[in-house]
Parts: sequence; structure tokens; C-alpha cells
Amino acid sequence: MPVRRNVTVREVGLRDGLQLVKEIFPTAAKKQWITEEAAAGVPEIEVCAFVSPKAVPQFGDHEEVVAHALSHPGLVVSALVPNAKGARRGFELGVHKLNFVISASETHNLKNVRCTTAESLARFEEVIAARREDPAYAKTSVAAGISTALGCTMEGPIETSRVMWLCEELLKRGAEELAIADTVGYANPAQVRAMFTEVIGNFGKDVEIAAHFHDTRGLGLANVVTAMEAGCRIFDASLAGLGGCPFAPSATGNIVMDDLVFMLESMGLRTGVDLDCLLGIRRLLDETLPDEPKYGLIARAGLPKGFHGASAAG
Ligand code: COA
Ligand code: ZN
Repeated sequence: MPVRRNVTVREVGLRDGLQLVKEIFPTAAKKQWITEEAAAGVPEIEVCAFVSPKAVPQFGDHEEVVAHALSHPGLVVSALVPNAKGARRGFELGVHKLNFVISASETHNLKNVRCTTAESLARFEEVIAARREDPAYAKTSVAAGISTALGCTMEGPIETSRVMWLCEELLKRGAEELAIADTVGYANPAQVRAMFTEVIGNFGKDVEIAAHFHDTRGLGLANVVTAMEAGCRIFDASLAGLGGCPFAPSATGNIVMDDLVFMLESMGLRTGVDLDCLLGIRRLLDETLPDEPKYGLIARAGLPKGFHGASAAG
């Protein structure tokens, strides 16, 4: 029987994690990762980015990976795109959701996708227009993620008003979901509370608002709790905390999926994820990426005696 989930966790390690890894992660291992996480109950996985292979060589196998991911019933398959060229690829392959990337920091946007934020907004319009080119494309939803929304390694603090402006511009152009991303792990819980209260207050009635945190400075899970208190119910994370952005120096590690699920489940929230199964999948990363740093305190310390996750309780 499907679990009644009240928080959504989304795996982004196959995209955010692997984009930083120098060696090409074998396609068979990507497919196994997807299959095992879907079986563990993870409801949504960002499986790749449709970007220039010169900029990020890791996703050359996207066609095979996407087709494999789409063969799992009930799994939401998403991918990151910076422009209409990438979006057309996603529409053609039939991914369920595209996550358009744009940065609140002008400097980060220039480095990451080589254009100004205003140009990225125009590219977002092109993505939405491209979806009208074929009726079959309508089954793909288009979300937008605002990178460096809570600070930037190059610009420092980011004005909240700029993030609100971007949310508004993206919604005007047809964004069907928004993610607020702390790409470089600068945010603290007070800042997250203020940001998510404002974003959800302004736009939460129109679209779902997701949170994308990095644990670079150890505040990732504290930020999840305060975002949740502000009403957020969708969280990105990566197995073993793989992750980062090649254009944001020292932005290591997404929040750790296994620790996130443990925290939520022990708080009585249902993620639908079987934690033992999830922890078992780390073996795949240990075998495939023996030299890559892996994080996670539950994997190290084990589950507390008598622990029962909320999802298992039904
Ligand atoms: N997918 C695949 N190839 C793409 C593409 C896409 N979405 N967009 C552009 N390209 C190709 C072009 O066809 C062109 O190829 P060619 O050199 O063989 O002719 C080449 O990339 C350059 O195209 P151009 O439009 O001039 O782009 P650019 O050089 O200004 O780069 C991006 C812009 C966005 C394509 C590039 O910076 C990029 O892919 N960045 C990746 C960002 C990323 O993944 N960051 C991490 C996520 S936070
Ligand atoms: Zn990220």
C-alpha cells in the first residue's frame, strides 16, 4: 500500500553530486542507484542535466539514464536545464519535470550559465515557448530553481527583494514550481525562516515551494527544520551528501539524504522512504566512487535502539 507522505524528499545526487565528480560515473551504476532509491521509496529523482557536455561532461549518457528512470512506475523523473536547447531534449525524452536554473547572484549566473540574469529570464521564456511546439511536450512540467538565493561566494549577501523579484518574474513567465537554493551553504536558520516565510506568504498559494540546501557549514538540517516551520514540505538532498556546484568554489555537499530522512521520520513526518534500504545504497557509492568524500552521521553511528520511522508506522 502506498505510504501517505507528508514531506517530499528529492534525490539530486545524480545531478548535483555527480556534476562535480571528475571521473565519469558508469551508466550501469547510475541506473542501479535510481532503481534502488525508487525501491526504497524516494518519490522524485533529478537524474541528469541537459547542459553543454563541454561545460559538464558527466551527463553524456543522459538518454539511457532518462529512459531507465522513466521505466519506474510512480517515480517522478526530473532534470536540470539552463536554456531551450536543453529543455527540448527533456521534452523529447519525456521527463516529468524540468528544473530551470537561474541565479540570484548576477556574477554566479554569468559564471554558471554565461549570461546575465535578465538573459536567463528570457531563456526561461523560450523554454516555456518551446513546450508549445508539440502537444506531447505538455506532459513535462517546468519548475525553476533560484541558485545562490541565500548568499554567493562571489557577491556575498543577496537582497531578499531580488529573490522575490525573480520569483515573480519566473511565475509571470509560467514557472509551475519554485525552488529556493542555498547553492554555497551560506544560510543560517534565522535567514531561512525569513526567506521562506516571505516566499511562501507571497507565492505559496500559486505554486509549490521547495528548498535546496547544502551542508557546507553544517547548518543544512537546521535550515530544513526552520523552512518546514515556515511551511516548506519539499526538500532536495543527496545520498551520502555528494554534491556541489563547479562554479561556486568550496560549495561541498548537498544535505545528506539518509540523515534528512532519519530526522524527518524520527520527528513523526512521513517521507515514504525505507531508511534501511536507503542506507544500503551507500554501498554502491562506496564501490563506484571509493575516493570521493561521503558524509552522513546515521551511516556512521547507526540508528538508535528501538527506532521506528513514521512511514513504517503507516
Ligand atoms: N545542452 C547541450 N549542449 C548545449 C546546450 C544544452 N542545453 N546549450 C548549448 N549547448 C551547446 C551549443 O550547441 C554549442 O555547441 P557547439 O560548440 O558544438 O556549437 C555550445 O554548447 C555553446 O553554446 P552557447 O549557446 O554559446 O552556450 P555558452 O557557451 O554560452 O554556454 C551553457 C551556456 C548554459 C550551455 C553552458 O554554460 C552550460 O551548459 N553550463 C552548465 C551549467 C551547469 O550545469 N551548472 C551546474 C548546475 S548549478
Ligand atoms: Zn545544489
